[in-house]
Parts: sequence; structure tokens; C-alpha cells
Amino acid sequence: MTVPIAWSPETRELHLHNGRISYAMRVHDNGTLGHLHFGAALDPSRSHAHLEPTGFAGFANRIGDPVPLEYPTTGTGDYRIPALTVELADGSTVLDLVYQEHRIIPGKPARREGDGLPATYVESDDEADTLEVILADARSGLRVELSYTIFRDRPVIARSARIQNDGTDTIRLTGAMSAAVDLPDARWEFVQLSGAWARENHVVSRRLRPGRQSVGSDRGASSHIHNPFVALRRETTTEEDGEAYGFSLVYSGNFLAEAEVDAFDTTRVRLGISPNTFTWTLAPGGSFATPEAVLVYSDTGLGAMSDALHGLYRERLARGSWRDKPRSVLLNNWEGTYYAFDEAKLLDIATAARDLGVELFVLDDGWFGERDADTTSLGDWFVDRRKLPNGLDGLAAKVEALGIGFGLWIEPEMISERSRLFEAHPDWAIGVPGRPRTESRQQLVLDMSRPEIVDHLFGVLSEVLASAPISYIKWDMNRTITEPFSSALPADRQGEFFHRYILGVYDLYARLTTAFPEILFESCAGGGGRFDPGLLAFVPQAWTSDDTDAVERLRIQWGTSLAYPLSSMGAHVAAVPNHQTSRITPIATRAAVAFFGVLGYELDPTTLGPADQRAVADQIVFYKTHRDLFQRGRFVRLRSPFEEGGNQTAWMVVAPDASKAIVGYYQVLNRPVPAADRLRLRGLDPDTVYGVSGWPDAHDPLVRANAGPRGGDELMRNGLSLGADRREAAAWGDFKSWLFILEAV
Ligand code: GLA
Repeated sequence: MTVPIAWSPETRELHLHNGRISYAMRVHDNGTLGHLHFGAALDPSRSHAHLEPTGFAGFANRIGDPVPLEYPTTGTGDYRIPALTVELADGSTVLDLVYQEHRIIPGKPARREGDGLPATYVESDDEADTLEVILADARSGLRVELSYTIFRDRPVIARSARIQNDGTDTIRLTGAMSAAVDLPDARWEFVQLSGAWARENHVVSRRLRPGRQSVGSDRGASSHIHNPFVALRRETTTEEDGEAYGFSLVYSGNFLAEAEVDAFDTTRVRLGISPNTFTWTLAPGGSFATPEAVLVYSDTGLGAMSDALHGLYRERLARGSWRDKPRSVLLNNWEGTYYAFDEAKLLDIATAARDLGVELFVLDDGWFGERDADTTSLGDWFVDRRKLPNGLDGLAAKVEALGIGFGLWIEPEMISERSRLFEAHPDWAIGVPGRPRTESRQQLVLDMSRPEIVDHLFGVLSEVLASAPISYIKWDMNRTITEPFSSALPADRQGEFFHRYILGVYDLYARLTTAFPEILFESCAGGGGRFDPGLLAFVPQAWTSDDTDAVERLRIQWGTSLAYPLSSMGAHVAAVPNHQTSRITPIATRAAVAFFGVLGYELDPTTLGPADQRAVADQIVFYKTHRDLFQRGRFVRLRSPFEEGGNQTAWMVVAPDASKAIVGYYQVLNRPVPAADRLRLRGLDPDTVYGVSGWPDAHDPLVRANAGPRGGDELMRNGLSLGADRREAAAWGDFKSWLFILEAV
């Protein structure tokens, strides 16, 4: 095999390739680093310099648009969205970044000590190769190190940049993106994951138009509104065919993902920290590291793009002992009790949960300070003895004695005005001195950019975590940031606040997860308000949404799956009428949706009638039997809830060796006279014969219609039958689901 990163001294081309993708660039005659290609695999032994369009003739001695550049700056003829913007000591903003040298490194070097930023990794040097290209601006002494890692077995490039001031004057960065990528045409759909609290990650798609189109966040967290992920797809791209790019940012703070179509109908995409809320002062000798951007290319549809991200994020972003361990089926008391509980009530719940097969009882909000409502006590991380007279240790010991684990909710970054912490340290809450602070959910945010606050939280939370046998932590974050300002930063560094906030959050995540490696941590931000690769580098799972309604969850989980694996998605069965939508769906359907994720329950099991109790016990047995498949199988999207009115959704998980698969098919509203429809499956082995069974009702007409051995070829070409006798179908009712279990015979 040829080397995965080729350098040709004659043509001055650099070419990263792994047989699935290629990424090529070239050093121009004037020293600038040009972009040639990112996408389908090309032969690295040939020159691809001709792929570059000629520059705009209006500039005699410069590279102007539409010539693609690897790390574009402003002011020299490229008017498109830049990767790097600066203010130099003389007030000028122009750089001439010129190639200096490059290094090819086996593997993927860990991020430097002090960067404090999460990233993907390798476990051995033969999994990837890394190219570092150094550019420099002679006049200012600014130096840019671009880093590109190509994974050998994944269609993925991980990119980041480090900007260093080797000059003698202070330089101010006003924008430093993780990646900019130029594409030679504009015939793309821009696919984003957007929504709101309780409606996260809906798939929204639009044709690229001339000008700029973007999603981002300036809220202090990656947010419910837009996820730090976008895809580009051709109009004809499907789940299984056609070209798609995925752009994913390993970051949890303010971000921008933007595409610009220029006058020549070429496209530039950039991804990184939002320049709207960012400046960074680089004193001589100082450096700034951007977050990592993960770029994926697929010519076999959106499905393969997601496969690449799922595998990378499950295997080489997630870390720690929980990365590969089966995740427990948990029961969380939040929707069951809200703040109204005492030890006896919790033990009743935990006992009933244990009897149903639950493995972990999670005590949510309300156990600390005097928190009977969301008006008080955040920051007071000591147990409320009125509710729990025997302390957390007393409660946890009793839960453990039931034979199940004990988990706990915390919201470290927050402070209530009514709290002892606020009395002691009113200046720890974020705000601009002399101005009112905006409250949200009656709480304020701690200034995580201040190391002494992170130290304090590490101290008090370590005590909590060590005080009782705790095997799980849900780390919440329920409001975004207003009045951004840190009393610890000088006036000319306030633009660093948001990034420093997130670095403080990462520091606390790193310290707590390192100090308590046996605890399974799950992140949460009012549901999916910070469901991003940044946090998935510290904790392997996240609470996907506060919306537990089965119908809503079809869209939320489908959208989330564009970038994130099932092993990262907390998915719970809740009581009906649903607390977010008042919808009443069958308990089997709630489970059939929640199985495709990390299963949990979000209800008071002591209130379940006998039929529901039996149903839950059966669900848990079913999930445990197939847990490995649900948590680690290949997830394949079949029928989108965002298309054709959204009445149907179908997806499946397939074992790595294709010997087993489970298909979920969901129909929101029942319709008379069903079509003689068929659901074509994917990812099976065409030569394998599969036995087909059904859940929850093995005698359901649709299950019977598909029972019996079926060839993988037939299941993929003809598919499962979804047509039924119209009298039988009339009896189904709304919100119906079917699982088909396929096992090689
Ligand atoms: C957020 C979380 C919920 C629950 C509440 C507790 O909304 O997303 O799951 O933990 O906080 O206050």
C-alpha cells in the first residue's frame, strides 16, 4: 500500500488518502496554501493541480476568488468567508500566510497539554496518519499550524488549527475557525439539525443559494436550536446512494457552521467557534488552539456518512471504562415525582423498578439544599435531610441492597440567587457589574472561566460523589448565558469569556470523570441542549430530549442519528398522558422507540397497573436480550419521519456480522385500507437466510405476513410486507409500532 499522506516536491502537492477519500492541497508559486480536493478517492501518484480553477483576473499579483485556499484570510482578494481574521498591533487586518514546512506523523498526536480541548484519538499509530502544515506571516510573526488526521479505515479527516504569535507585538484574533473547505460547485442541499427545547435535532434541508447560509449558537452552549453539525447532500442523494459531506464540530460552546456560494457558484464551508462572540489576545509567544472539526465524505449516501461518525464517536471519541460496557437500564424519578419525594417514596420506586428488571435507580433534581421547586439551592450541594434523613449514603446503601445501582442528578454550572453559595459568593454568578442579570428558570450561571470556581465545584462534587455508592451521574445544564462578562478578565480580554467558560466546563468534566472512572456519566442540558461531540469525548451518553413522547421522539432520534450513535442517546419510556404533549401512546410503542438508544424509564412504577407492569418487565427482558445490538449495532435509517407527511418511520439495527437485525416500523395515525406497501431493508447479508419474528405481538397480522425464513436478498430487494387485511388493519388504532427480529438460521 502507498503511504497515506503523499508529498510531491515537484508539484508541491500534499495528498491524504485511504482508498475511500482523498484530501489534496498544493503550495502555490506565491507560497500560499491552496485547496485542491476533498471527497472521493483519487490516485495519489498523479498531480491534481489542474482541479483548481484559475484566479480572478482582476488581481494581477494575488490569489483571489475563486481559487480555493486552505486557511483563507481577508483583505487580499478572497472576499469569501474567512477562516482567520486578526487585528495586528498597527490596526491592520491583512496577513500573507505563506507555506513554511510540513510534517507527516504516524498516528494522531494527543492535543497539547493546556489546550483543554476534547478530540478524537487513536489507540495505535497504525489507525491514522497526521499531516501538520506550517504557514507564517513574515511581517507580524503570526504562525499557523494546520493539522489533518486521516483515519485509515474511516472516510474521515479530523482538522484543527493552532495560531501562534512568534512576533514581538500583541495580536488579536477576531475569528479562528477549525476548518474551511472549498467545493467546486454549489449544487448542494444544506442539511441542519435544528429545533427547540423538547424538539431537538429536526432535520431541515434547503438548497444552497448565492450568499451565506449558516447555523450557529451564541448562547454559551451548542444549544437546542442548532446542533454543531451540518451535512451537504446532492438533491438526488438518499440514505444509500449519492454524495454527502458531514461537518461536525467537537465543541460545546458558541459555534458557527456556514456555507457561502460565491459569484462563480463555488461553495466554501467553514466550521468553528462563532466569531460573533469571540476575540483572543495573543501576546508575543502566546498560542491559541481551535476545536477539532470532523469532516466526512460519502459517495454511498447519508447512511454511510452517519456510519462513519457513529463508529468514530463510539470508538475513538468516547473514552473511559464505560465506552465499551453495556449501559444499564435505568429508571429516573423526575417525571414520576418532580420535587415531591422523601426516602420512603424513593425506595418504593426503586423497589418496584428493581422488580421490573431495572438495573439503576437515578435520583433527579431536588435532593440537595432546600430545593422544593426550581427557585432555590443550586450550588448548595449537600443533602436535604428533611427529605433524606439518612443522607445520600443511607439511601444509596438501601438502593444497592435491592441489587441495583444508585445514580444522582447534578447541575454544577448553576447557582440560585436563593442559595448559601450565592450568599457567600454573589460575584461568582456571571453578570456585568452594575447591570441587572437576566434570570432563566430562576437561576444564574457560575463563571466557569474562573479556575477558583472550577476548583470549588471539583471539591464539593468530589465529596458528594465519594460520600455514597454512586454509580451514575446525570450532569445537567438548564439555562444559557446572558450578560457575558467575567470579573476575572481585563477589559480587552472579555471577548475570550465564552471560550474560557467552556474550557472551564471541560476542565471540570475531565477532573470528575478521571477521579471517578467507575461512574457512568450522562450529560444533559434541559434535554439535548448540549448534545455535541465535545461532551461525548468526556461522557459516553447524553439525555437526548426532555420530550419523552414516542411520536416526537421518532423525529428527535432520527435527526440526532445523523451524527450520533445509538450508544450516546438516552431514550426513556414515560407515563401517559405525556408530560410534554399530553399524547397517549401505547406503552409498547413508547418502548419500541426507546429501544433504539440507551433504554430507561422516566415514571413512577408504583402507579403502573398490572398490564403495564407486565409490559415493562417484558420490555426490559427484550432489551437486555438484544442490548448489544441496540447499543453497538449499525443503525440504518429506512423511512424518514420528515418525509411524506411524517406518518411513518422505519429504521433498523444490524449486527456487525449481519447475522442479526431488529427493524422498527412506526405508524403515527392509522388509515383505512392500507397500501400493499413493502419496507426494503439494508445492511443484511444477501446470502443469509433469516428467521423473522415480531415484537410485542408475535401473532400480529403483519408479523404473521412476514414470518418464516426469508433470504437477505429478498428482504433487501422486495422487503418486508407492510400490507394487511383491511379489517385487521382497522383494529390497529393510532401510534402503532412493530419490531421485526431477524436472525440467521
Ligand atoms: C432538566 C432535565 C430534566 C430534569 C430537570 C430537573 O430539564 O433535562 O431531565 O433533570 O432538568 O430540574
